[in-house]
Amino acid sequence: MIMRTLALTALLMGSSALAQEAVTPEPPLDVNPARAELGKRLFYDTRLSGDASLACASCHQPGKAFTDGQALSDAYTGAAHFRNTPTLANTGYRDAWLHDGRLGTNLNDVTREMITETYLMNMDMRIMQDRLKQDPVYVEMFAAAGLGEPSNGGARNALQAFQQTIQSRNAPIDTGTLSAAAQRGQVIFEGKANCASCHSGSRFTDDQPYNTGVANNPDIWSDPQRHSAFVTYAKFMGVEDYMNLREDLGAYIRTHQQDKRRTFLTPTLRELTYTAPYMHNGIMATLEEVVDFYDAGGGADPLKDSRLKPLGLVPSEKADLVAFLESLSGESFDTDAYVWREDDYDYQLIENWRDVPN
Ligand code: HEC
Ligand code: HEC
Repeated sequence: MIMRTLALTALLMGSSALAQEAVTPEPPLDVNPARAELGKRLFYDTRLSGDASLACASCHQPGKAFTDGQALSDAYTGAAHFRNTPTLANTGYRDAWLHDGRLGTNLNDVTREMITETYLMNMDMRIMQDRLKQDPVYVEMFAAAGLGEPSNGGARNALQAFQQTIQSRNAPIDTGTLSAAAQRGQVIFEGKANCASCHSGSRFTDDQPYNTGVANNPDIWSDPQRHSAFVTYAKFMGVEDYMNLREDLGAYIRTHQQDKRRTFLTPTLRELTYTAPYMHNGIMATLEEVVDFYDAGGGADPLKDSRLKPLGLVPSEKADLVAFLESLSGESFDTDAYVWREDDYDYQLIENWRDVPN
């Protein structure tokens, strides 16, 4: 608070040496290192998908803060996804997961959804357990992690531990090294633009769903593979008239309350420089576009949150806001701590099993 007052005073005085308010990141989560190491190997292992074509890391890529750079995500062979792949930075601190918040217990549940969902990794858990048991490296690593023989529960547990280690590091906002432009942007972010009313705390999210009027991504309905995955999802979530539905209803699917239509969880604003394109459906390519969207008071939706109002920002204020958003990104995750670099996945797919002598 004292720092804030100083920053404002300095701003009012037109001083160029602004006092800075650093944000204190959340303390590291308590993670068993042997489990996290096992989880790291599993995260990069394509054998966790039914046809051994996809690993978690295919869509959650370390160099992109565990996103994939696409508007809408890839999916299992023959399918395509209807949502943007979210960052896994600090995901261990969330209260609810997925863009609609439909899973709210723990990362273990989210991991199971990723592995078993037909349009994601389409893996049968019984086969997964067998594949893990056939690999001597896993047999050793499960034992070292105190998880006994390779099992599905153990694998999810280890994947959860690995994901809990994915934490943002040394962003300018943490180290107190914001540029003058970013500092001016912070004042706008917390002040007249009111961004902090939803993007609050050290992760810059309150984990709650809101309707901001983001437009639908038409590719979900023009691409039969995406539409088919969307229909599967909407039907499973008990949405009425799912065949004719032409919009993503977001968190509505949890309670079926009308006023929750088209609400999506507030995303973290950390690591944005790595995670373009933005929003639940990747409809915005740049941070400039996002800031223009908020400057216009958000999108056109009768259920839009009342906090979103036209802001009347001048071009220099928009640039300052973008500079602040960029200052929330830290070191790349493309490092040994987060990448399984050993080429030790010894596994061959048998192309034609009839040719195998028995
Ligand atoms: C085919 C691409 C793909 C693969 C493979 C994949 N994911 Fe995801 N992941 C996504 C998409 C898309 C979402 C958002 C889905 C939604 O909102 O419905 C997501 C969401 C998540 C989330 C929620 C993040 C948040 O902030 O809400 C976690 C955690 C996660 N994935 C972990 C994993 C793990 C662990 C694996 C491997 C077992 C994995 N993912 C495999 C595409 C993928
Ligand atoms: C009423 C709550 C609310 C307010 C106020 C708000 N946001 Fe958001 N913000 C959200 C929600 C919800 C989303 C996700 C919407 C979606 O996916 O369709 C979002 C998405 C974003 C994203 C995209 C992040 C990503 O990874 O896709 C950025 C950047 C962002 N907001 C910045 C801001 C800025 C800057 C302001 C102030 C000008 C602001 N927000 C004000 C709720 C809010």
